[in-house]
Amino acid sequence: MSLSISEVNRLKHAPHIEGVLPIFHERWSPRAFAHRDLSAAELANVFEAARWAASSSNLQPWRFLVGTRNSATHNKIHEALVDFNKEWAGHAPVLILGTALAVNPKTGKPNAYALYDLGAATSYLTLQAAAQGLVAHQMAGFSHETARRLLEIPENYALGSVIALGYQGELAALPNPTLVERELAPRERKPLSEIAFSAWDVPATLA
Ligand SMILES: Cc1cc2nc3c(=O)[nH]c(=O)nc-3n(C[C@H](O)[C@H](O)[C@H](O)COP(=O)(O)O)c2cc1C
Repeated sequence: MSLSISEVNRLKHAPHIEGVLPIFHERWSPRAFAHRDLSAAELANVFEAARWAASSSNLQPWRFLVGTRNSATHNKIHEALVDFNKEWAGHAPVLILGTALAVNPKTGKPNAYALYDLGAATSYLTLQAAAQGLVAHQMAGFSHETARRLLEIPENYALGSVIALGYQGELAALPNPTLVERELAPRERKPLSEIAFSAWDVPATLA
């Protein structure tokens, strides 16, 4: 399959809807990464965006471990991935592990919203990446035990996702044909009627 990156993106971008910011339709999760590193400013800016996410009591519980290519942290995050993710995500120039302080430092009580807030910050990160012409692909497929041990993460931090970040690559960068197939598979979403209700299970009239 010899589609260019822009041809792949034409297949993958969601249809534009008037009034919705284009970045929401353009962001998607490729697995093909180019062999191109990010500048320090490009990397800093995705975290700058994440930093401004809202959080419960403004606790900002998110902490990100950032591994750039060939660093010990990149190697350790890669090591913790399940085999399926290991195969493609190792090519990403940046591997990030999102964690969240699961205790409210002001009260000492559990912060039930820590991972929720980390998710919000991670969404900001992925959208900022898309706005910068980068791609970000989140993964739950990793061993928490291995990540915690290798990266020496304290017990009071909950683990979120691993994020592969970089420039999108050609389909040829993918290590096997199954991944090429998945890269080209249609993206699916539930209709609004299944996710927005006026009463329980009654689709809201939105338009
Ligand atoms: C929390 C989370 C965990 C995910 N885990 C994996 C994973 O382990 N491996 C993988 O290839 N993709 C993973 N994904 C990517 C999803 O499959 C992808 O986001 C979803 O199919 C929607 O596609 P899109 O991001 O291109 O819109 C994960 C995404 C999220 C948000």
